Amino acid sequence: MCGIVGYTGQDEAKDILITGLKRLEYRGYDSAGVALECASPATPGAPASGVTLSVIRRVGKVAGLESELSAFGAPSACGIGHTRWATHGRPSVANAHPHTSCNGRIAIVHNGIIENFAELRAELERRGHTFASETDTEVFAHLIEEAYEGRPDDPATGEPARPGSHDLMTAVREACTQVVGAYGLAAVCADEPGVIAVARKDSPIVIGRGERGSYVASDVIALIDATRDVVVLEDGQFARLTPEGITYTDAEGTPIEPAVTHIDWDIDMAEKGGYPDFMLKEIHEQPRVVRDTLVGRMVGGELDIDELGLTMEELNLIDRVYVIACGTSYHAGLIAKNLIEAWARIPCEVEAASEFRYRNPIITPSTLVVAVSQSGETADTLAAIRDARIKGAKVFGITNVVGSPVARESDGVIYTKANKEIAVASTKSFIGQVVSLTLLALLLAQVKGKLTTGQVRMLFRELGNTAEQIQWILETQGEAIHEAALACKDAHSALFVGRGMGAAIAHEGALKLKEISYLHAEAYAAGEMKHGPIALIDQGFPVIAVATKSPVYDKTVSNLKECEARGAQIIVVATEGDEEIRAIADHVIYIPPVRDAFSAITATVPLQLLAREVAIMRGCDVDQPRNLAKSVTVE
Ligand code: F6R
Repeated sequence: MCGIVGYTGQDEAKDILITGLKRLEYRGYDSAGVALECASPATPGAPASGVTLSVIRRVGKVAGLESELSAFGAPSACGIGHTRWATHGRPSVANAHPHTSCNGRIAIVHNGIIENFAELRAELERRGHTFASETDTEVFAHLIEEAYEGRPDDPATGEPARPGSHDLMTAVREACTQVVGAYGLAAVCADEPGVIAVARKDSPIVIGRGERGSYVASDVIALIDATRDVVVLEDGQFARLTPEGITYTDAEGTPIEPAVTHIDWDIDMAEKGGYPDFMLKEIHEQPRVVRDTLVGRMVGGELDIDELGLTMEELNLIDRVYVIACGTSYHAGLIAKNLIEAWARIPCEVEAASEFRYRNPIITPSTLVVAVSQSGETADTLAAIRDARIKGAKVFGITNVVGSPVARESDGVIYTKANKEIAVASTKSFIGQVVSLTLLALLLAQVKGKLTTGQVRMLFRELGNTAEQIQWILETQGEAIHEAALACKDAHSALFVGRGMGAAIAHEGALKLKEISYLHAEAYAAGEMKHGPIALIDQGFPVIAVATKSPVYDKTVSNLKECEARGAQIIVVATEGDEEIRAIADHVIYIPPVRDAFSAITATVPLQLLAREVAIMRGCDVDQPRNLAKSVTVE
């Protein structure tokens, strides 16, 4: 969703801001803008600082903003920029950030939601402020202006006038005390040239110091060119950036020294590396993700997840597991349920975080809540974590982003080692999640005495083999996937079916197809077809089935025969060597023979590739599908 960048230093700010905004494009946005500090013309009445703020905003891609800025000649060494994903107010120039104070001397960019913005706006308007947008964010600009310049008497509340601080950092701190909600905020003031004041609550902010200046961003990818040592700001911390350095304070203004995190992936890893799109590159990275996620997990023949934050005794007491997540991460949870219940024999429920948080679920101190989130920022998942912890559950996070809110707010965390995922549709992080959840299921089974150490070792080895199995699919099944994609590209709708593990995989296949190709797709447990969905089937209707060799293979095949009899066009993900399936399938995509427990890791891959091929055939942007954002930081 929205992205923030800011720079103050010796170089041309607009170039650095545009590079940073381009790096943030993957998050999804609908408009972009910058505010630059520029020298004022030497005219009578010009402000004492000799600086004005130039705000330039555009609806659409950052490239449009870039071409507008190329005609903007004034040099600037300090500025802030933003990509906006509309929440309050439609995508428009007026609603794009940065937003400015009434006098135009303060500009801000903001990620998050201001929950009490309607009250704040009404109060500010009563005190004479004029608003130029429909956004919640704009109240921040006016609150900072009042804290900076001073506030008049408020006849309605009887509040007496207050003097201004005339210090941007102090004014930002004061404004934050009035705001209820989430914010990552960066502000500049034409009367304090070169200063960027930054605040954070529940919305990520990272800060870095390079050789030629100071940087702020909402995502480390926007400042990794300048530095690899970054400070991930904590809630309630503030930063003041100048060309010479950065100081950090807490909410009272007391200086603090936050920890520095070293980033060990580089920008090449986050670029396309010769692939036509990020999605294909990321699908091809999946064998590496499996290997990296398993590195260091078997130590001296024992499964080792020491970041769990729970002792073996505490783990042994766990009698119920909830997996809470959204979207693709939720589907990883469906797979985990099968494994946890089969191996550890503990009831496991999988729930959309947006439902869990409002449902008063049954939680006791022996409940383990596993929160799965690629970005580690998803608002619903975070709210569900907080709720679960208040109710006494232990919470374990599985995320791809080091230092993300999910990692910080959980009792323990496994990182999925997918590295930065840029394509909006999750692929490699899903595989990392499934591998991590498989490890957790193995650990629970071992601690509960349901699997022996020897069995765990054997399963761990087989889990590792899925890396080569994915590689085999990538190298050999391209043609079959292409043919299958041709068969569904003109359909209006498609059904994905499977049983057991296959049903969980079908859900992920359907989501991938609909989100990037805009072709309507649904997933059903194959046995449910005749209770309704089979009515949809007529001549040529695509049914995409996961029918790998498993205990429910024959049952799945029977369900497919019922679809075939009604004219469906059948595409099957099957196990290599299964020739019988060709009798009912129009197209077969093979995966290598694999234990059913691990089939999700391999059988999902052809469905990712199928979705991508169909999307490309239908002329869609596979990396940045419409209406979607990479991090869903609003409810
Ligand atoms: C689909 C997709 C989304 C995310 C969902 C949760 O390809 O990427 O469905 O899985 O928005 O996001 P995270 O995992 O970041 O919490």
